[in-house]
Amino acid sequence: MNKQLEKIKKDFESEIKKVSDVLALDVLEQKFFSRKSGEFTELMKELKDLADDKRKEAGMMLNTVKSELESLLQNKKSEFELLAVGELAKTEAIDVTQPYLASVQKGHLHPNTLIQNQLEDLFASMGFMSYDGPELESDYYNFTALNVPPQHPARDMQDTFYVKGHSDWVMRTQTSSFQVRAMQKFGVPLKLIVPGRVFRNESTDPRHEHTFYQLEGIVVGKDVTFGDMKGVLETVAKGLYGEDTQMRLRPKFYPFVEPGVNGEITCSLCKGKGCRVCKYTGWMEIFGAGMVHRNVLKEAGVNHEEYQGFAFGFGLSRLVMLKYGIEDVRHLQSGDLRFLQQF
Ligand code: PHE
Repeated sequence: MNKQLEKIKKDFESEIKKVSDVLALDVLEQKFFSRKSGEFTELMKELKDLADDKRKEAGMMLNTVKSELESLLQNKKSEFELLAVGELAKTEAIDVTQPYLASVQKGHLHPNTLIQNQLEDLFASMGFMSYDGPELESDYYNFTALNVPPQHPARDMQDTFYVKGHSDWVMRTQTSSFQVRAMQKFGVPLKLIVPGRVFRNESTDPRHEHTFYQLEGIVVGKDVTFGDMKGVLETVAKGLYGEDTQMRLRPKFYPFVEPGVNGEITCSLCKGKGCRVCKYTGWMEIFGAGMVHRNVLKEAGVNHEEYQGFAFGFGLSRLVMLKYGIEDVRHLQSGDLRFLQQF
């Protein structure tokens, strides 16, 4: 029995050295210690055939070797576990430079976005769909299709950025540039708003910025009236500034509407009494609007005998300024956290 034990021990020791992964280690463990046919187990079974005096001695010897071999097994197992953790660390790529996220302040929506979302909800409740138009626009959709042919003096009011080498491309000066596109894309009848960024060649001051936001709307149908327009615009004004807000329309020329108006509401800050923000008039201008000009309908391929409609354009940046009492439009794009953190 001694010899057998010696051999098993030697075999085990030399075999475990060659083991290179957990699977092979498992196979080795089974070979020697499996309950049914493990080489070591078999040897243990022989104990019972020995005479009493020898059995005790042999039993002790077997147990000593057994625990030696088991600790070899255990060491090898731990070795493989450590290796596995190392492999995981390599593939999981833990970034030790990453800051502790829980202490980072969360951002929030820009005031422009807040008002835009509020308006989109309001218009959606009246059945309007909302759409994005391109910021880089053709001269045609921005001006010509809107009844403003080349050389027309109205172009002077909206000088913008032209693209070098592409004199027929402009950064859109107004979201109205989507009016004809919208009718061509979706057909009529139509009820749509287009919020978005517009550009003009302005020398900047507290009330002017080269980049600002508008919200356009267009409604076309068989019996759409000026009264419908007034109703929609009043609903929006009251929705934004409260039920006691009054609105007035005054004639104004825009080449792509006829008749055209500009819309004013009672100043939201002084409630019509007169203050610095409304320049002591009690009224604030917030949109341009009018019945879509028949030349514009024609340009979009809409039968102007059968269909008519209205369009309006809110100065979104203006609405934001009025809502929050912001005195300088340039704050909106300044990226200044002292300004932005107030919303
Ligand atoms: N696009 C005009 C502007 O930028 C506003 C407007 C839109 C006027 C629609 C009438 C109809 O001033």
